[in-house]
Amino acid sequence: MTAYLRNYWYLAAWSHEIGDKPLARTFFDRPAVLFRTEAGKVAMLDDLCPHRFAALHRGRVLGEAIECPYHGLRFSPEGNCVHSPFSGKPPHAQQVRSYPVVETDGAIRSGLRTRPFPIWAKSARPPPPSSSACTTT
Ligand code: FES
Repeated sequence: MTAYLRNYWYLAAWSHEIGDKPLARTFFDRPAVLFRTEAGKVAMLDDLCPHRFAALHRGRVLGEAIECPYHGLRFSPEGNCVHSPFSGKPPHAQQVRSYPVVETDGAIRSGLRTRPFPIWAKSARPPPPSSSACTTT
């Protein structure tokens, strides 16, 4: 496994890559799935259904959830099971790992255990360095 800096944001995808179909990606050496809900929220989950381990990227987005292609459990952007075709009542024990996601400037960034997304990064460029950091004597 590759060593990663855990507290940093990484580019996961470009915004235009997330259309109406789930997108499979390998993120931190793990299979992940990105999708955009009907409301426009982007989410990233482990690409593995906890029921029988089907790849979620082969499923579809229905409203605000992604549906597993095998038996049809549905998961929210937070990874919670929100629908079961078997009982109608979602089994709360079924949960998929979710990743924090920020979409800005046409890019979708995520990380493993991230600090809050820096405010300066929500604009197109980083802040200028402080004058004391650039002085030469
Ligand atoms: S494998 Fe996903 S619902 Fe069964």
